[in-house]
Amino acid sequence: MRIDILTVFPEMLEGFFNCSMLARAQKAGLAEIHLHDIRDYTTDKHHKTDDYPFGGCAGLVMKIEPIDNLITALKKERNYDEVIFTSPDGERFNQKIANSMSMLENIIILCGHYKGIDYRIREHLITREISIGDYVLTGGELAAAIMADSVVRLIPGVLSDEQSALSDCFQDDLLAPPVYTRPAEYKGWKVPDVLLSGNQKLINDWELQQSLERTRLLRPDLLDRP
Ligand code: ADE
Repeated sequence: MRIDILTVFPEMLEGFFNCSMLARAQKAGLAEIHLHDIRDYTTDKHHKTDDYPFGGCAGLVMKIEPIDNLITALKKERNYDEVIFTSPDGERFNQKIANSMSMLENIIILCGHYKGIDYRIREHLITREISIGDYVLTGGELAAAIMADSVVRLIPGVLSDEQSALSDCFQDDLLAPPVYTRPAEYKGWKVPDVLLSGNQKLINDWELQQSLERTRLLRPDLLDRP
């Protein structure tokens, strides 16, 4: 899978994508993540990526030309399944969307900034608008990082068997059960006996029951989803 991220602050994301599981996925050839500086696609001598809004309201708006130039250049090289715009008024990101995105070949994620982007970009170039939650960030870079992280870890081969994404929270609209490691007792705090029993059926039943209980307690809304 290839993810092209379009931003005016590529340096915000460089470290993130060069660490840990995302770096390993790229080294193993399972994912390609390319950061593009929108400023490199400006044509004016000041390399302006934003301008004052028509209508006189406050703030700056990201200009069409550099973003269109960049998206057009990328589309000349390959087909894209989605051109995603990160925006607080987009569709709310969740595990289901991450699952479906992980099956795509090529996606573009455009990070918004300032007051917004010229609306014609959203009308003509964007195929999907995604929010990571009901709060406003200064820019879409963190949203792009969150999306890329949650999508890349679902690509087959990225996680080892022990880390399997199948047991993740939300994968069946259930929260994950508690997990423990050695020592089996610490300061008198004990790991549940069942996990030490060696009986896999009992362990599976216990985990499912814990998942249901925690979901009922912490996120009852998940149990009502269609
Ligand atoms: N940009 C600013 N706030 C955002 C949010 N909540 N989700 C996605 N992109 C954003």
